[in-house]
Amino acid sequence: MTSHIRRIAICTGGGDAPGLNAVIRAVVIAAANRGWECYGIREGFNGILFPERYPEGGVYRLTRDKVRGIGHLGGTILGTTNKGNPLHFPMKMPDGTTKDVDRTDEILEYFAKKELDALVSIGGDGSLTIANALHLKGLRVVSVPKTIDNDLDKTFTTFGFDTAVGFATECLDRLHTTAESHQRVMVVEVMGRYAGWIALHAGIAGGAHAILIPEIPFDPDKVAAKILERDSEGRMYSIIVVAEGAEPAHGHRAVLEPAEIGHAERLGGIGERIAKVLQDKTGKDARVVVLGHLLRGGSPTSFDRLAAMRFGSAAVRGLAEGQTGVMVALAFPNVNYVALEDVAGRMKGVPLDSDTLQTARDVGICFGD
Ligand code: F6P
Repeated sequence: MTSHIRRIAICTGGGDAPGLNAVIRAVVIAAANRGWECYGIREGFNGILFPERYPEGGVYRLTRDKVRGIGHLGGTILGTTNKGNPLHFPMKMPDGTTKDVDRTDEILEYFAKKELDALVSIGGDGSLTIANALHLKGLRVVSVPKTIDNDLDKTFTTFGFDTAVGFATECLDRLHTTAESHQRVMVVEVMGRYAGWIALHAGIAGGAHAILIPEIPFDPDKVAAKILERDSEGRMYSIIVVAEGAEPAHGHRAVLEPAEIGHAERLGGIGERIAKVLQDKTGKDARVVVLGHLLRGGSPTSFDRLAAMRFGSAAVRGLAEGQTGVMVALAFPNVNYVALEDVAGRMKGVPLDSDTLQTARDVGICFGD
């Protein structure tokens, strides 16, 4: 199988996550050590679909020199996008309407024309679905699981999650003293579109008093009761962590922009809503901190760097061994490969019977249920 591979391409899609550059570096070096050439596709698949946007080349050669010294940097040297999914591409029609077009054949044609033998696709749920479609059309593909949200199935963790949790925890540590000094309710909104992993892990590590996650619809009265209970015990401040996708049992998610062809809905604003309700219900001063994209920035933790490098080199090893249509996964203590069809389109939420969730309940953290 190895002899068939001479050239591979790498792409990064969806929201960025700390560790992307470490994966790219590992792939390029591991491939070069096998005598393969590596090419980087700019901004998801835009480098192929819109070559005119990139005078310096939408797809370019990634040599060892191009990846020197990038392993500790956040972001992605390739750029990324979470708009313009090639499976559902919004094309303006002459009559002014927008049509949902599948442009994956153009990607396959490009690979054939340029004699690119395989793709390493680094991305989250959307990217896995695209990778699986390309694999089903005959492209040799290995995916690497990326997202700060940690919501991909069949892998213990994605890279980027540990960095996001570490930063959110540090922010919570800092907020305790100011919240206590002012006897306030501090509501901290974190990313995690449909899964509460960041909120749960950072909330426990950072000593939050209530954690609201999409998996557990919450009752604001229960959260207010928790705050008042703490007050009655002389603990006059409370920290509430809320995932952007959390929803009240009798209400709806906070959506900033609805989904459109080629991109998902944009969430945000639940923190403000909850702070207002809690202020009204408890009579206490409430403040909101939205961590948002800060969670996606910065240098990856050593855990994420190592995971990213293990994923990247395993992707190359997998291709060399003839793997295709698979995602590299972390199955402690090793990495393994799982079929793309078993992970694409399957979101991994926080299991309601997980010991981590139970730990939070055991130490008195309120989930609003
Ligand atoms: O990477 C996933 C994510 O972090 C979600 O938690 C969040 O909803 C989304 O990205 C926001 O992405 P953007 O604002 O970049 O479109």
